[in-house]
Amino acid sequence: MMDQDQILLLNRMPNAGVSIGNARLRDTLGWNNARYEAARKKLLSSGVVVKARGRGGSIQRVANERQVVSEPIDPPVTNVGCTTTNLISSEVKPVKEDFAKHFVASDIVYTTELGTQLCQDSLKALSAIPDNSIDLVITSPPFALLREKEYGNESQNAYVEWIHGFGVQVQRVLKTTGSFVLDLGGAYERGKPVRSLYQWRVLLDFCDNIGFRLAEEFYWHNPAKLPSPIEWVNKRKIRVKDSVNTVWWFSKGDWPKADVRNVLAPYSDRMKKLIENPEKFYTPKDRPSGHDISSGFGNDNGGAIPPNLLQIPNTEATSAYLRRCKAIGREGHPARFPAALPTFFIKFLTDPGDVVIDIFSGSNTTGRICENLDRTWISIEQRRDYAALSLVRFVDDTMTDDATAKLITQAEMSTVTVLPKPKQLTLI
Ligand SMILES: C[S@@+](CC[C@H](N)C(=O)[O-])C[C@H]1O[C@@H](n2cnc3c(N)ncnc32)[C@H](O)[C@@H]1O
Repeated sequence: MMDQDQILLLNRMPNAGVSIGNARLRDTLGWNNARYEAARKKLLSSGVVVKARGRGGSIQRVANERQVVSEPIDPPVTNVGCTTTNLISSEVKPVKEDFAKHFVASDIVYTTELGTQLCQDSLKALSAIPDNSIDLVITSPPFALLREKEYGNESQNAYVEWIHGFGVQVQRVLKTTGSFVLDLGGAYERGKPVRSLYQWRVLLDFCDNIGFRLAEEFYWHNPAKLPSPIEWVNKRKIRVKDSVNTVWWFSKGDWPKADVRNVLAPYSDRMKKLIENPEKFYTPKDRPSGHDISSGFGNDNGGAIPPNLLQIPNTEATSAYLRRCKAIGREGHPARFPAALPTFFIKFLTDPGDVVIDIFSGSNTTGRICENLDRTWISIEQRRDYAALSLVRFVDDTMTDDATAKLITQAEMSTVTVLPKPKQLTLI
């Protein structure tokens, strides 16, 4: 039987086989050395974790099971230090369409009016979801980068095989009008200035072997991306900065639900002038492409049709999420996508009331956007600490830092239900 500190420590660790330094783990828990060492020694002697090879000492899990305590360490957090009414209750509240009933209660980290945050391997969580029930799966998986990230990466060779299993499950749970949007960053082969082809291998595998259609390929340009890899770009100066991710929009059938009118881009100044006075500004004529530029081009349709190149800087250093994490002494998730990316696809491919899943949810950017846009959501993240911390996206602005920190600690061990939309909330 483990005590609460052992459980907290274990749940903060990466998956089996991925090591974490003692100092880093102790810091993320915010413990002093004595407390950390006491819990670590007990886990080592029970064989649940083993020492790993790392300078300064590191440990790793032996198996992936999460430990859950039946009672929170603190009494259920109801209204802790909160100046608005009854934000939090300890009861599990079913989300719209009652998706929560498909999951083991202890895997639910928190629920909101519209969503469920799970802590589980998403392959397992997906297997509990009924066929043909989901409108959109949007996600950014761990990439096949060569530099190991703290959340662990599969090697490039194994990547396609690894992600294939998720693709099969996603295809099964999607409605025939459903879509799967997959954001994949580029990578180099190990030790060479040669690009990996893994994103295209994933694309071909999903279409050829799983049966997805490529509805359209998108490219996400992040102008704020830092140059890397340092060796090829900064030091030897033989490659340019890689600032574009491929975003594959897969569909289950030929006719996925989609409406461009929901994501129209602002008109350019030139187009605004044309709309103001089409006759004066533009003489209708044929373009070399054969398109007839008729006076119909002067119609105001509320915005321009966006291109498949999405220009979105990932500069969310001042986001409410990071500010809240900092305020409670936690480090935010290291690889969040910018809110504008899921917002675009959720608006484009779903209607209010539809069901959206993020199968590698990290800081739960997707869930937060869905809550804003009235979509039911399920977010799945295998690390309980990331999943619990994402709760900061849903707590009322008036909640004190202490109360927020307590709530996160509770979510690390048992289910927290966040009642209807906070009265004061800085979005994203
Ligand atoms: C690139 S991050 C996603 C970040 C997210 N888009 C956001 O905005 O915060 C990928 C996440 O997938 C999680 N992950 C990796 N393998 C997983 C699995 N099998 N099941 C569930 N989550 C997994 C990692 O822990 C990591 O947090």
